[in-house]
Parts: sequence; structure tokens; C-alpha cells
Amino acid sequence: MVIEKKFLKGNPLKDISEYDFPGLRRALSLGQENVIQEISDSMLLGRGGAGFPTGTKWSLALEQAGDKKYFICNADEGEPGTFKDRFLLEERPLKVLEGLMIGAYAVGADEGFIYIRGEYDLPIKIFREILEDARDEGILGKNIFGSDFDFDLTLVRGAGAYVCGDETSLINSIEGKRGISRIKPPYPIQEGLFGNPTVVNNVESLACAAEIINKGAGEFVALGTDNSRGTKLVSLSGDINLPGVYEIEFGCGTLEEIINDLGGGVSYGNKPKFVIPGGLSTAALLPEELNCGYSYEDIEEAGSSLGSGAIIVVGESRDLVEILLKVSRFYMDETCGTCFPCREGNKQINFMLNQHKNKKFTRQEVEIIKDIGDAIAAAARCGLGQTSLSLIESIFDKFPEELIEEVRHSEKVRNR
Ligand SMILES: Cc1cc2nc3c(=O)[nH]c(=O)nc-3n(C[C@H](O)[C@H](O)[C@H](O)COP(=O)(O)O)c2cc1C
Ligand code: SF4
Repeated sequence: MVIEKKFLKGNPLKDISEYDFPGLRRALSLGQENVIQEISDSMLLGRGGAGFPTGTKWSLALEQAGDKKYFICNADEGEPGTFKDRFLLEERPLKVLEGLMIGAYAVGADEGFIYIRGEYDLPIKIFREILEDARDEGILGKNIFGSDFDFDLTLVRGAGAYVCGDETSLINSIEGKRGISRIKPPYPIQEGLFGNPTVVNNVESLACAAEIINKGAGEFVALGTDNSRGTKLVSLSGDINLPGVYEIEFGCGTLEEIINDLGGGVSYGNKPKFVIPGGLSTAALLPEELNCGYSYEDIEEAGSSLGSGAIIVVGESRDLVEILLKVSRFYMDETCGTCFPCREGNKQINFMLNQHKNKKFTRQEVEIIKDIGDAIAAAARCGLGQTSLSLIESIFDKFPEELIEEVRHSEKVRNR
């Protein structure tokens, strides 16, 4: 039985006058290096999808020379199936603000931005009010809580492109440029916003950081597995009876249990046809693969990745080609077009899939799709191109008998 945790979900305070910012106060008394040490000790991995260690990112940012640094909260949340940051922005906004300010203090940034997905009207309204109140109460501004920490925060409404969730596109967007990814290196911590060292962290990473500094790293490391510490907010959606945001302790249940115990089971047919465990850029898992623990390492061992924590359940009666078409349409629409193979390749794949609404693919066609996928990934400047074929290729691999002509029985058994 998977039990919901309350590490992040606790403390629903929204009124700034009733919140004492205990984590931020503790951070200011600890000093920059000790805050970073505590985040490193917690082994927190970034919750935006890539899983980069937050303590390492902050430590590298602190080391950067120069007086001017920026700290950005990435609240763009464009990955289809992901809506856990929205929960935090709407229901735990002060925790997000606190984590952001702790991070800014730790790395030596005096200016920050929160970049919120353009469609998120309510979070934008909430944060506009919070920023105003925070300035009135002296929580933003000069000498915060009597310290020598000065910090101000600006809200930016996202322009509606998935690629703007990529940290370098997001930086371009804040600078008023077109939201396209930059070539790395230099990485944002070396040369980010307006050419200055910049930290970009996901909303959930920052909410975790606030709780870690507030409660101490020990409480966080005590939760989860050796390589996946703490808890994770998952967005459960698709053909499921009880969709929603759930907080799960890593390692305390399998994907199957999450779907059945928390999600109330499958709603379209009796069992899933497959499950996407980490958002649209992660590979599909078959029902017999769902017995894997919910942790970064277990899902990787099962052949996919935990990504942003978006678990999408696809019921057994769904049409595969329709799903393939929707996925490829998304990438075709959302490519920023900078890298030629990503722009043209995703268009070409969508064209090929469209020819197959009522007929199977030949082996050769599937090989061509995979070759295009390899070319896109090899030339991609950002994660969008690198992963745009992950789900599509996994569906071809896992359902050859349904999608590909003349699949021999031995091949069918091997691919399962
Ligand atoms: C196409 C694309 C979209 C992304 N969208 C988001 C997003 O909506 N939110 C997010 O936090 N990270 C997103 N990322 C990852 C960010 O580039 C970055 O790794 C992350 O914000 C870092 O925060 P973290 O270390 O706290 O995870 C995206 C990456 C790519 C390539
Ligand atoms: S990989 Fe695709 S989305 Fe990313 S920069 Fe290149 S063209 Fe743009």
C-alpha cells in the first residue's frame, strides 16, 4: 500500500503576514557555505526533469567570480502531463518563495525572476500579490531580516512555448529575445542572464530546499532510497480514476501500487496498455514492467526515466497510432526550429505517421523513423530534440505485432 507523504504538502500557509520564514531565517544565520553544505548533504536532485544535484549547482554558482548573479525559479511547467508545480504555486507559494530566497542568498544573487507558465492565471495572480506584500513587509528589499542580504524578485509571464522551459531558452525569453536554446557551454551558472552567472531551479526543487533548511537535511535523507532521497510530487493523469498530485516517498511503493492504491486504478479498459512514467519525453513501460519501485534508479533499470514525475496511464482500449500522432504533433509544433534535424525531422515523422492511420508500418519505415530520431538527437542543442523520439520509439519496440507488418512470433517474444 503506497501512503501519501506530507513533507512538501504540509504547511499550507498563503498569507505572508502569518508566515515567519523559518527556513530563510535559519539560512541567514548559517551562512552561505553551510546552507550549500546542508543542501549537498540532503542529496537533493533537481526536480525539473534532469535530476542534477542542487547542492553541486549552488556550490558552482557560489564559486563564480563577479558581483552580479541571478537566481531564477523555473515555473514554466510545459511538459505534457505535469502539473505538480502548479499545485505548489497555488497551494504552497510561500514555500516556493522561501526556497528561492534561500538559494539566492546561498549563491550570492541579489536579483531573481520567477518565470511562470503563461496559462497559469491563478499562480500568476497569487505571486503578483505575494511579491507586493513581501515588498511591503520588508521580506524583499534591502537588509532582509536585519541581515546584509538584499534581494528583489520579478515575475515574468511565460510566452507559451514548451521550449521556454529549457533553462537557456527561458533566459533568452526573460531577456526579451526569442525563446530558443543556447549552445552550452557556457552553462547558465557561468554565463546566464545578461551574461552573468545564473542559477535556474525548478519550483519543486526550491520547495524541497526550503523544507530541508527548515527541518535539517537529516529528515530529508532519512526518506527514500540510497540514490533517490526524500519525496516526490507526482502528477497522475490519463486513463486513471483518481487523477491528481500525490506526494510519494521514493522507494515506498511500485508504479503499479501508485496507479492502483492512489490513482484508484485504470479508467479506460481493465488494465493499462502502457504507462509513461516521467512525462512525454520518457519511454513507455508495459503492464508487466510496472512492478518496479518508484525511484530514479528503479525506473531507469526498467528502461525509462522518472523525468518530471508525470505518470500518464494509457488504457488498454486506446489506439496506438492515434497516440503516436498526438505525440509527434506535439514535438512538431514545439520545436524551436534552430536545429535543422529537429525542425524538419519531427515534421517528417508526423507526415509518415499520418500515412498509417489504418495500416501497419513496414520494418523499413520503422527503421527510417528511428534513423531520423538518431539524427535529431545527435544534432539537438537541447533536451527537446534529444528526447522527442523516446516515447515513439519505445511504442514501436513494445508493440511490434500491433504496429509492424509480418512480425514473427519469436520476435514478438524477444521484444517483450
Ligand atoms: C524542452 C525542455 C523543457 C523544459 N521544461 C522545464 C520546465 O517546465 N520546468 C523545469 O523546471 N525544468 C524544465 N526543463 C529543465 C530545465 O532546463 C532545467 O534543467 C531545470 O529548470 C533545472 O532545475 P532543477 O535543477 O531544479 O531541476 C526543461 C528542459 C527542456 C530541454
Ligand atoms: S533541439 Fe529542437 S527545440 Fe532544441 S534547440 Fe534544437 S531545434 Fe530547438
